[in-house]
Formats: sequence, C-alpha cells, structure tokens
Amino acid sequence: MQHLTALHVSGPTFEHHREPLGIGESAPRLSWTTVTDLPGWTQAGYEIEICDADGTVLTATGRVESAESVLVPWPGDALGSRERRGARVRVHGRDGSSGDWSEWTWAETGLLEAADWRAKAAGPPAELLGPPDGPALLLRRDFTLRAPIARARLYVTAHGVYEAELNGQVVGDDVLAPGWTSYTYRLRYRTHDVTALLRQGANTIGAALADGWHRGKVGFYGGATGVYGDRTAFVAQLEITYEDGTTDLVTTDEHWRCAPGPVTAASLYNGEKYDARLLPGGWSSPGFDDGAWRPADVLAHDPSRLVAPTGPPVRRIEILRPRKTLTGPAGETILDFGQNVSGRLRIRVQGPAGHTVTLRHAEVLENGGLSLRPLRQAAATDAYTLRGDDAPEEWEPRFTLHGFRYAQIDDWPGQLGEGDVEAVVCHTDMRPVGSFSCSDPDLTRLHENVVWSLRGNYVDLPTDCPQRDERLGWTGDIQVFAPTAAFLYDCAGPLTSWLADLAAEQTALGTVPHYVPWVPLLPAEPAAAWGDAAVIVPWVLYERFGDLGVLRAQYASMKAWVDEIAALAGEGHLWDKGFQFGDWLDPAAPPDDPFKARTDSALVATAYHAWTARIVADTADLLGHAADAARYAELAAAVRRAFVREFVTPSGRLACDTQTAYALALHLDLLDTPAQRERAGRRLVELVAADGHHIGTGFVGTPLVCDALVAVGAYDTAYELLTQRECPSWLYPVTMGATTIWERWDSMLPDGTVNPGEMTSFNHYALGAVADFLHRTVAGLAPAAPGYRRLRVAPRPGGGLTGADASLETPYGPASVSWTRTESTMTITATVPPGATAEIVPPWPDAVAQEVGSGTHTFTGSYRSPDLDRG
Ligand code: BGC
Repeated sequence: MQHLTALHVSGPTFEHHREPLGIGESAPRLSWTTVTDLPGWTQAGYEIEICDADGTVLTATGRVESAESVLVPWPGDALGSRERRGARVRVHGRDGSSGDWSEWTWAETGLLEAADWRAKAAGPPAELLGPPDGPALLLRRDFTLRAPIARARLYVTAHGVYEAELNGQVVGDDVLAPGWTSYTYRLRYRTHDVTALLRQGANTIGAALADGWHRGKVGFYGGATGVYGDRTAFVAQLEITYEDGTTDLVTTDEHWRCAPGPVTAASLYNGEKYDARLLPGGWSSPGFDDGAWRPADVLAHDPSRLVAPTGPPVRRIEILRPRKTLTGPAGETILDFGQNVSGRLRIRVQGPAGHTVTLRHAEVLENGGLSLRPLRQAAATDAYTLRGDDAPEEWEPRFTLHGFRYAQIDDWPGQLGEGDVEAVVCHTDMRPVGSFSCSDPDLTRLHENVVWSLRGNYVDLPTDCPQRDERLGWTGDIQVFAPTAAFLYDCAGPLTSWLADLAAEQTALGTVPHYVPWVPLLPAEPAAAWGDAAVIVPWVLYERFGDLGVLRAQYASMKAWVDEIAALAGEGHLWDKGFQFGDWLDPAAPPDDPFKARTDSALVATAYHAWTARIVADTADLLGHAADAARYAELAAAVRRAFVREFVTPSGRLACDTQTAYALALHLDLLDTPAQRERAGRRLVELVAADGHHIGTGFVGTPLVCDALVAVGAYDTAYELLTQRECPSWLYPVTMGATTIWERWDSMLPDGTVNPGEMTSFNHYALGAVADFLHRTVAGLAPAAPGYRRLRVAPRPGGGLTGADASLETPYGPASVSWTRTESTMTITATVPPGATAEIVPPWPDAVAQEVGSGTHTFTGSYRSPDLDRG
C-alpha cells in the first residue's frame, strides 16, 4: 500500500563533516535522516546515486534492502585527490512508503597523497624570528594569472599559527589555524575555495605567521618552547583552473618575501602586542613594494604527515557585550562580560598615534580586582598601540586566546563608550545537538555552566582549561566528560582527530601519555582513568554516534593500552604499581596536594583495568575478532576476580570506605553476588548521608556516583547529592555565581577568596560530567543502542523537581523527552525519530515498560511524589 503522506529525506552528509570541502576520506560514509509523520516509520531500503562535478551519475545503487541510514558505506568508486562528488538518497519504508530523492549534497576531496603536495615550506629567515613567542611575521608573494578563472583552491597549513590573505582579504574565518594536533605525526591542512578572491592579472598571496603551539610556549612548570622545531613556516598550495580548462599552481617556495609586521609579540598564554603603526599598508595586495623585505627560507617539511580535518575549525562563535563596568581597588576599569568564556576582546578605539591600550583578562575577581594567581605563568595581557587615525581603529588579537569573564582595560584614551569593547567567544565550531532544562533554576544553570565549560575547553582539542599555562589535551578530563560532550555537541569529527593523535603518540611512547598532544614535561607513563581514554572515548563515540569506524580505527590503540596494563599488573591482575593520579581532586585533598584522595589508587586503577578490558572484548566482538573477544573477556573476568579478592569483603564492604570506591564497584559491576551489591549500595547511601549529602568524589568518582546510587534504587540520595547547595557540591559554585564548571569543588571558597592551591581553574569541565546523568536519568533520554537507534526513556523524578526536558539531534533525527508532575500524577512526552524505537519505562509503580516506534508519545500515570509532599 502506498502512503501519500510526505516522506522527506535529508541530503546525505559525508562522514562527520558539516563542510565537506577538502575531505580526507576516499570512501566517505554517508548518513541521512528521514522526516515523516507516518507513525512508527522504519526504513526498509535505500537507493543512493553518486554523480561527478558535472552532474553525470556515476553510481546508482538501485534499491538496497537495508535499514541502515547512519554512516552507510560509500557505494561509489574510491575517490582520488581533488574529486568532487554529489550524492543523493531515496528511502523506502517497511510500510510500503517511498520518498522522493533528496537534494544533492556535495563533497570534494583534498590532497590525499603526499605526492600531491608541491608546496615547499617557506619560513621567515632566522634573524627575523626573535625568541619564542616573539613577533608574528609577514610573508608574501605576487603572481599573475593569465586568463579568467573558473575555480581555485588554496590548500594551506603552517608550522606555527597563520592567517592567510589573498589580494588584501583574509582567507576563511578560521581562528588559530591549523589548530593543534600531534604535529610530529599529523599536521592538518585546510582547503579553501578562493575562486572569488582571485582575478585575471596581478594577484598577491600572503600570510601572517606566529609561533603558536609549534614554537611558542606550551605547558606548565614554566612550559616548553620549540616543541616541534625552532623555525616557523607557511605551507600553501594555490591551484587555479582557468575557464579554458588549463591550470596554474602557486606555492610557497623560495620566491616568497618576509618582513616584520604590526604584531610585535604573540603568545598563546601571554597575549599579543600589536603596534598599528607598523602595519605595511597594502602588504597583501598587488603593487606593494616588497623590495626591502627579506627572501624567505625554504625549510624541510614532510608532506606525508599532512592530513585533512575530520571536523570543523575554531571560529569566532559569539560576541558578548559587557554587562557591567566596575571600578577596581586602585581605580582600574574592569568590564564584566557576565560569562566565563574562551576568546579575546575586540576593541574600537580612537586616540593619539603611539598611545598603548592594555587589556588584561581574568576569570574571577578577588578584593574587587582581577584574580591573576590562578593563571600561574600565563600573562594573558594584550596591548594595542594606536595608529592615530581620525576614525576609530578596530582591533582583535589573532594569535592568542584567553579564558576570562573580566577584563581590565588600562590607559584607554578618553571615555570608554558602550560597544567599544566586546568579547569574541572562540572555540571549535561544532554543531550544538543537545539541550536540557528542568524546574530547578540552579540545576538548569549548572547544566548551562557545563555547556559553557565544554565551549571554553574545546578549542581545537579537548583541553583541561582555557586560561592558565596549561590548556593541554588531558586524557582523564575528556575520558570522564566524553558522554556529556557527545550529548551537547556533535564532537565525533573533532574527537576522531584527537584519537588519531592519541594513537600516534602511544605508538611512539609505548604508553598513552597523560595529555595529547604530548609535550615531555612529565615522564610518559601510564595512569588509570587518564590513559583509559584510549578505550573509553572511542567506545563513547560508538555508543553515541553509532560510529563503528572509530572503533575499527582505534582498535590497535585500545588493545595496546589494555595489553600494556595487563603486563604491568602481571599474574595477580591488580594494577597496584607505578604512578597514579587516582581520584584526583577528592574534595578532602588539601589545596596543595590534589593527589591526596581517600580512595586507594590501586582500587581505582584495577577497576578501570577491568572496565577497559571488557570494552575491548565487546569491541573485538563487534569487529568480528572472535579470538580477541574471548581473550579480553577472560582478562576482564580475571581482573574482576582480582578486584573482588583484594578489595571486597564477602558481605560486600569495600577495602576503601569511600563514595568513589562504591561508585566504581557498583557502576562497573565489579561485585559478585546480589547480596554484596545490596550491601554495597546500602553502604554508599550511608557514606553519602554521613558526608551530610555532600559530594565526596574527585575526577573518577564524580561521573559515576549518581548512577551508582540509582542502580541500587537510592534515588532520594542521588537527588540529595545533586541538589546539595553547600560546599562541596555541584550546586555550590552556582550559588557563588559560577558561569562555568570549576576545577575544584571549592575553587572559590565560601568567603569569596580564591582557593590557595595551584590547581584553581574556574573552567574545567571534568566535574560537570554529571550532566550526562541529568540527560539520561533526570530528563530520561538515554541511548539503548548505538547512535540512539533505540532510546531508553526512563525519567526518574526527585529533588522536588516538577518537570524536566532534554532534546537531542540524534543521528536518526530529533529526539526529546519532557515530563511534568503534580503531587499525584506525572506526564511524560517522548519524541522518537523515524527509524528509531524507544523503550519507555515510566517511574510509576504499576507502569509496564513498553516499546514504541517513531512519533510523539504521551504517557500519564498516577505517581505519588514523596519529595513533593515533603515540600
Ligand atoms: C589538569 C587536569 C589534569 C591533571 C592531571 C591538571 O593540571 O588541569 O585537569 O587532568 O592535571 O591530574
């Protein structure tokens, strides 16, 4: 039977790309979503057509009997470099429905082979470079195009950070390109369509180039410089196709010229100094006389490590106006942007030539002035020296980034006007996909703070913090936060790149280092919960995005990590040797000793070892490696037995009587008998109560403790913990006016002073990992099958909440759950995307779990609410 109702299918996406120009995959997997109001619709089959740049169909699959619509294998021939393809799809439902063809969507490959790269690396001569974090230098070259242009592509990267210009115009809108990867093994290039920026005749290409992560200072303890080399360079390959079909090539080579520019110092941590008087007007346009410029040096570079991006670049995402202008204790002008962000300021200033305005940044105030101590050695100070124009001059630094809510503006000429200073929020331009809110404004604000901490800490890679002399890809932080990140933003592409770096570093170092990219400031040695990111992060991407490919790509790395730890643990299967971070930043740890957790680090490490061995067993199974699956399942069982032997009493008490120990044992299913589980559950409840329903966990226990409580039915205790407002708790920072998640439970002490410890950031997402619990259990929207192909809708009210909702753009389309309740009834509304199903498990006593298909479903039950009765 043919339905007449519309069946609309989106144009297919290629891999995880939103902007598929210059992709690196020669056989990009395709995904689509179907929009229909046919209830319970599921796909029975699809057809895909692939065409070339002229629209000639090259591949037509015909009808493929398959329900798959997420990351479906590329049906066409493998693509070579610079190939452009269109794709469209048509779907057929199990109910006999058929849709029309989707729109065509397009992708174009970048340079897939090292041999495609003709560009040399053109670097400023050593004499111009200065010490690390010195001036940004300008590079340029004139060239002539002999005929009208049909199309042009710029393939571009740098050793350093760059901004490219063509004929006086900045190319693209990337910030801090090429971002930070493990440059020794993988350096990303970008592909830009620059057709509109070129013209027949005289043209100029140029770049401003700063040290960035390549040569500038990175890391703590004074940091390291020159991590990837002591010379910076620009690598650009401009490929022009004329209307007559002939081509031309302009590349970085010995014909480029170099000179200092207006940026007299550029440091990721310390800030940027810009003297507008030093800008050589028209330097990136034809006709500029570069006779006095120096020839660039051609430097060695290895095109085989150049890779295309798998996700979006860092961009300017949002502009914030100051909320308040404050006066500091010494009369300083301090702007409060009302939100802690990563980014920088944009100023509009008019004044005498040579006058310098200074901009300082901080996350919090102390005694009315900027609190700078938490920045450690990051000066976070920008300075702009005016040209002295008749009109206002506009400036935003380009080669630095700060984590801040407050900015102190020194030496502003005249009166600071409204709109003269704005904050430009910068981070990876990922697509926001998930949201959450509930009837408790503080919990909703906590969630908003989590979102802002993800935004502040996804600046090209998942970092620990955006403000102090660190900003590293700490593995433990993203390990605990990955499920939350995957709900809030489409981070599959960016994390795929980071995992490739992780695997590359792991291969070279023989272990998963504490942060990726690796900078050797510490010994490279394994640490539980940190190195375990190698296994858990790919698994989370599989679970949340349905991407089996990432498991395939990371499989060797996942196995190598578990093998390494198995060898270290030896026959006893206890990981009780060597360095550990343990339950880092346990609230009981003193400010100067964040390691000093109450939970034995051997218990933490062994629990993680059991967990990741099991994930590798499951992964092996999915990938069809039967022998591996059996081997790792046996290892996981052996580690679990060792855990029980060493840390669990027969009655279910643990050797460490801490929230984290019980959370691990319960959540990771490390107890043997139901009786042990029951006893452990009771003990966890007792411990939380004994702590006055204050949080008692650090990085490791925090993401698990509410889940563990819920797993033993202790909803009330979970909610007591969740809605606690005294320190330490999730909501304490909210009561203190926090707008991001803090590194410590008490980064700011109740008296408003800043914690005296070294580790006192106000923007660290790790402790915000509880947001995943808000999504899955408070709102009730959880994945029950990879990619949310099956949802588990099981909201569990408590804490006096009268309603909550969560929505998520799943790979199958939009899903949502919202619920409201009174003293005696509860109503749940769930939307399930086409092609997916949901298991609905209402909390009311007589509820029967039921399975539903796509569409919007409402359930009402009578529900006594003890926590509401209590008022
Ligand atoms: C970072 C953390 C990181 C930790 C290692 C800190 O300096 O900021 O977030 O995971 O070191 O324990």
